[in-house]
Amino acid sequence: MKLLFTNIKELLQVRENSVLKLSGKEMNILPTIKNAWLLIEDDKISDYGKMDDLPEISSDKIIDLSGKMVLPSWCDSHTHIVYAGNREQEFGQRISGLSYEEIANNGGGILNSAKTLQNTSEEDLYDQSAKRLDEVIKLGTGAVEIKSGYGLTKDAELKMLRVIKKLQQNYNLPIKATFLGAHALPLEYKNKKSEYIEHVIQEILPAVAEENLAEYIDVFCEQGYFSVEDTNKLLKAAAKFNLRPKIHVNQFNAIGGVQVGVKNNALSVDHLEEMKTEDIEALRNSDTMPVALPGCSLFLSIPYTPARMIIDADLPLALATDFNPGSAPSGNMNLVVSLACIKMKMTPEEAINAATINGAYAMDLSKKVGSITKGKLANLIITKCIPSYTYIPYAFGSNPIEAIYLNGKLIK
Ligand code: NIG
Ligand code: FE
Repeated sequence: MKLLFTNIKELLQVRENSVLKLSGKEMNILPTIKNAWLLIEDDKISDYGKMDDLPEISSDKIIDLSGKMVLPSWCDSHTHIVYAGNREQEFGQRISGLSYEEIANNGGGILNSAKTLQNTSEEDLYDQSAKRLDEVIKLGTGAVEIKSGYGLTKDAELKMLRVIKKLQQNYNLPIKATFLGAHALPLEYKNKKSEYIEHVIQEILPAVAEENLAEYIDVFCEQGYFSVEDTNKLLKAAAKFNLRPKIHVNQFNAIGGVQVGVKNNALSVDHLEEMKTEDIEALRNSDTMPVALPGCSLFLSIPYTPARMIIDADLPLALATDFNPGSAPSGNMNLVVSLACIKMKMTPEEAINAATINGAYAMDLSKKVGSITKGKLANLIITKCIPSYTYIPYAFGSNPIEAIYLNGKLIK
C-alpha cells in the first residue's frame, strides 16, 4: 500500500540522516520542508520532498493536505497509564490546602492507588488502561513508555506488567515497559524498608525477568521514599537482568538521584524540578537523557524543570506527560509542549524536538520514530489548518490535530 500526501503546508522534523538525540543549541533547529509531499509505503516513511520537485509516483491513494502540517507523532517516554480508579478526592483535598506529602502521609497517594489496583481484576485493569491509551493516541502520541509501580506486591506488579504486555500485543505503536516496584513502601513493610527492597530484588525482579515483562527499571528516588543507596542497590540488582534504569529523581529534593542514575548508565533521569549545578555537571558527557514533566508541575503547583539551565549547559532534554492518577492526570503531549514553551521558556523548536526525537531516545527508539526519516515508522500527526507550527504551543488547550496515522494506517 502506497499513500501519498501532497501540498503539505509544512513537513516538520525532516531529517535525512536521523540523529539519536539533540543537545544544547541543536535543539533550537527544527528542519522543515514547506509545500511538501510525503510518501508512505506500508508502515514506513518511504520518501518526501518539495511539491515543486514531485516526481511521477504510482500510489494507491493521494491525500491533499493543503493548509495542514505533518509531523512525527509525539514520543511520550514517561507514563503510568496502567492504573485503577482515580484520585480526584485527593485533588479536592489539595485545593483545600493539603500538600502532596500530607495526603500521602494520610494514606492517600501511591498507596491509595495500589490498594485500588490490587482489588481490580487484570481484565478490568486492561480495559481502564486501554481507554487511556486510545485517548492519548488520538492526542498524537505514537510511542509510549508505561511503568508498573501501583501494584507493590508481586502479584499486583506482575498483573500491571502483563496488562502492559497485552497493550503491546493489541496496539499498533511501540510501547516500552518499565518495572517500578520501588515506587512507595507498602504499609505491610512500614519501618521495614530494607526488607521490602530485598523482597523486590529476590522475589519480584526475577519473576519480571523470567516472564520478560520489562525492559527498564525505575525507582522513586526521593526523601521519604527510596534513598540514593536504596536506588543504587535496586539498579545494580536489575542490571543483572539487563534492565536499564529510567528513574524518578529530583522531584521534590535534589538528593543525588541524578548522580546515581548516571553512574548506573541510566537511559533517562526524569522529573528534575529541583536541580543543583552538581546535577548538571553529572549529566555532562553521559548517555543519560534528562526528562521534564511539566504536566506534573502544573498539577502539583511545584517548580518547573529548569529547561534553560539544562539546554544552555549544552545538554539534551526530553518532554513527557507522566500521565498518572496522582500528580499528572493528563496524557496530553500537546499541552506538555505548550507548558514547556510558556512556563519553561523553551522555544517551539526546542519543545517539538524534546517531544519527538529526544523522547524517542529516552525509550531507545530514535532509530524507529521521532523524525521524518526514510525507513522510520509512519507514525504521524496531521494538523488542522494552522498558520505556523508555533501555533501548536501557542493555542494551549486546543487540539491542533486533525488525523493520526500509526504504522501508515489512519486511526479512526
Ligand atoms: O511521577 N513521583 C512519583 N510517581 C508519580 C506520582 C505518583 C502518584 O502520586 O500516584 C510521579 O509523579
Ligand atoms: Fe512518574
